[in-house]
Amino acid sequence: MSDSLNDFVDQLQEQIYEETREDFGEIAYQRWRNPLYMEIMNDPDGHAKVRGDCGDSIEIFLKFENDRVKKATFQTDGCGSSLVCGSFAAEMAGGKNPDELFEITGQTILEKLGGLPEENEHCAFLAAESLHQALNDYMIKQTKK
Ligand code: FES
Repeated sequence: MSDSLNDFVDQLQEQIYEETREDFGEIAYQRWRNPLYMEIMNDPDGHAKVRGDCGDSIEIFLKFENDRVKKATFQTDGCGSSLVCGSFAAEMAGGKNPDELFEITGQTILEKLGGLPEENEHCAFLAAESLHQALNDYMIKQTKK
């Protein structure tokens, strides 16, 4: 690429970053740039993939030890805010027992990440629903043991 094209691409990238930071706030922006806990887990104890009305899906993977989440990860094929919400859902799940996991809701995810534009709030509820479905999967497996 020529230098001027490189400069143009760099400027465009910076502009996208700046607009995202303004729209989503600093906490969500930083997580979007560095989506922690994004990993497909092999052999999870609890797993769910839930597709929202928007057509995107969020997957949650849970590994338990002594009835507490030892490790939680997520994957998504969705928008930037689904990435942020899946990441925070996984983070918030760490160390929790089943009762505490049910207390993680779309609202608590939104509070944790400092809120999202109204049109993106549903991504947090999708992440919470995936987390609860993954917990259901774990609990069903427990009863079959
Ligand atoms: Fe579909 Fe965010 S999860 S728009």
